[in-house]
Amino acid sequence: MSNVEKTLSIIKPDAVERNLENEIKEMFKNNGFSIIKQKKIQIEKSEAEKFYKVHETKPFYNDLCTYLSSGPIVVIVLEKDNAVFANRKLMGDTNPKDADEGTIRKKYGISIDKNSVHGSDSVENAKIEIDFFFKE
Ligand code: CMP
Repeated sequence: MSNVEKTLSIIKPDAVERNLENEIKEMFKNNGFSIIKQKKIQIEKSEAEKFYKVHETKPFYNDLCTYLSSGPIVVIVLEKDNAVFANRKLMGDTNPKDADEGTIRKKYGISIDKNSVHGSDSVENAKIEIDFFFKE
């Protein structure tokens, strides 16, 4: 049975800065994802703080929010069967040094902070994150 889902991807400042936007989008398409919506934006730190609120108690929260707001990002809604899990698999481990061969973070990630992409971690959070950037 099919289980078509949507998930939110963010191409982070380190990847946009290195002109990896098209290569990463090709990886999504080659892995069967449809790009339903996308926009290139730069967000304020206060917006990054709202987006990453689940991490507000973590020691890396401040740096993370400074980083996400430090340059242009591309926010993308992806669609595919089991998109949330499929995208997490395609991204690879949060820390690029632990990511499997062939994953986006292994290929392009520089560090745990500059790990090139974000992806929703559950169907519930995907809805919240998609609304955050694309609510009409
Ligand atoms: P992301 O999937 O965007 O979600 C939160 C981000 O916090 C994560 O990717 C990492 O880039 C960043 N981060 C920094 N330090 C850590 C850490 N110790 N554990 C998890 N995420 C971290």
